[in-house]
Amino acid sequence: MLKIESGLWLLAIVYVFSTPLCMAAQDEVTADQVVTAIESTFGVTPGERRNHIKGTCALGEFVGSPEAAAYSRSAMFSGKPIPVIARLSLAGGNPKAPDTAKSPRGLALEFKLPGNNLQHMTMLNTPIFGAMQARTFLDLMIATKPDPATGKPDPEKIKAFKATHPDNLAQAEYLAKNNPPASYSSSSFGGIHTFKFINRDNKTTLVRWQFVPQDGEKRLSDDELKSSPPNFLEQALINRTKQGPVHWDMMVSIGEPGDPEDNPTLAWPESRKQIKAGTLTISSALPQKGAECEKINFDPLVMGDGIEPSNDPILLFRSPAYAISFSKRLGGL
Ligand code: HEM
Repeated sequence: MLKIESGLWLLAIVYVFSTPLCMAAQDEVTADQVVTAIESTFGVTPGERRNHIKGTCALGEFVGSPEAAAYSRSAMFSGKPIPVIARLSLAGGNPKAPDTAKSPRGLALEFKLPGNNLQHMTMLNTPIFGAMQARTFLDLMIATKPDPATGKPDPEKIKAFKATHPDNLAQAEYLAKNNPPASYSSSSFGGIHTFKFINRDNKTTLVRWQFVPQDGEKRLSDDELKSSPPNFLEQALINRTKQGPVHWDMMVSIGEPGDPEDNPTLAWPESRKQIKAGTLTISSALPQKGAECEKINFDPLVMGDGIEPSNDPILLFRSPAYAISFSKRLGGL
């Protein structure tokens, strides 16, 4: 009798403790699920990126500042020129997306540090991201999948998505209110996530960074939005680099206690101390096919000594998602 009772207790204890764990496990979104959802929404172009498929390669260098070297011991900030491979892109998996699309633009950088070390920075032109967890990104892909009957997303599904995912709203509103850039060279790009700078004394500083164009920020006017051709960003960048090098200042905001560390949908106050951490120079641009950036996986977790990731779940989720997309496209899938 005693044996049966204690057996039941054991069962009850196992049930009580395992239920939330099982539910959590069910709620966990995998990178594979998300990449499959991206493919299902945009279709697959074999051998190409599943997201940010439309893009342009560029080459240049970065020179870091002594101010930044006080916060991070990364070789990026040695003051010596660091060779950079860059890729500028449109978000989404549609290779024919028009350059007027009200979607994010991307800047991906690979810094070739001494000793064969690499530092990646893979950024967007929006100040915040549209998901604080992978589930929101997955549900966005599902909600925006075109309805086969109309070829467009079902407005009811979008409405339901918005009503249930408040963490998407700030970026969606930003994209609706701000026209896309007139050219890549006149756009800012930000890392969005919080990162850690580690200095020579092992002191950690929470930071966020943004690359601000020396050409000035310029967006398409409402008229240009209607009249611009579907493909102009690539040629404009190529033409601009032929006139002379394009520069972006890397501005770093220094975090203060209480600033969001692991939520990329929340901006930091504009009053945060900013330092100029260096200057990026892009001196040439060319179509991506066969160019150096094509075969790079701009995984944002590729980091050299002196810069580390925060616990932002989106930042950590990106790495496996990019790896899946990368291995598929390298395999010609
Ligand atoms: C759940 C969140 C995200 C998912 C699932 C995701 C997924 C992807 C995938 C699959 C690729 C293609 C990778 C490749 O084949 O090389 C990609 C590219 C890219 N993503 Fe994300 N991403 C996410 C969040 C972000 C965020 C927060 C940013 C910026 C802060 C960002 C910026 C970019 C850029 C710029 C590219 C193009 C990189 C290149 O030029 O190769 N993504 N993303």
